[in-house]
Amino acid sequence: MAEYAIAPSILSANFARLGEEVDNVLKSGAEIVHFDVMDNHYVPNLTIGPLVCDALRSHGVTAPIDVHLMVKPVDRIIPDFAKAGATYITFHPDASDHVDRSLQLIRESGCKSGLVFNPATSLSHLDYVMDKVDMILLMSVNPGFGGQSFIPSTLGKLKQARKMIDDSGLDIRLEVDGGVKVNNIREIAAAGADTFVAGSAIFGAVGKDDANDYDTVVGAMKAELAQAK
Ligand code: DX5
Ligand code: ZN
Repeated sequence: MAEYAIAPSILSANFARLGEEVDNVLKSGAEIVHFDVMDNHYVPNLTIGPLVCDALRSHGVTAPIDVHLMVKPVDRIIPDFAKAGATYITFHPDASDHVDRSLQLIRESGCKSGLVFNPATSLSHLDYVMDKVDMILLMSVNPGFGGQSFIPSTLGKLKQARKMIDDSGLDIRLEVDGGVKVNNIREIAAAGADTFVAGSAIFGAVGKDDANDYDTVVGAMKAELAQAK
């Protein structure tokens, strides 16, 4: 299994000073920047696009950027995110008419590819494309907003996805997104996740001007994960 990684979702960061927020959360020990792209069509919210990803790279961010597309369709925007410096690009299978083609397009563009599963979406979408994904992302909330509660049935789904990955022998990260907190991250890890998106738990834990507190919450998550091993 891959090393554990914490992926703060910048959806809950202070957008007025995003570069500094990302710097601070990475300094606190988080490994991956989770970048939520919403289009007010696939999900009822509107966020950020390739220009902001590019701006973070220009600002000096070198950590992997994990672009979570909650847009429909997906293909038009994939090369733009690749040019903007995305490391991972993941999308929802129900948002693409041709899932295999979209996955190939991501890799051809030079990025790592992934599929995202809503709480009610079956893992069977992976059946014929396991060899074309670098990341499987299980939503533990319905996509569109930060600050929702973890849906417990995700734990069983994580176990199922972990088995599929292990049986395949492929190098695929298993990421979980939504409602991840210090008090549940250990059991989520025990269910098989290795990559943990957390938005409100990290950026919302403290007053937004007190960047040092990211150390506290990221440190607490890592301490929990150390016990899950
Ligand atoms: C929801 C997004 C998440 C969100 C998670 O659609 O995909 O990444 O930011 O937020 P929390 O951690 O607050 O549930
Ligand atoms: Zn996300």
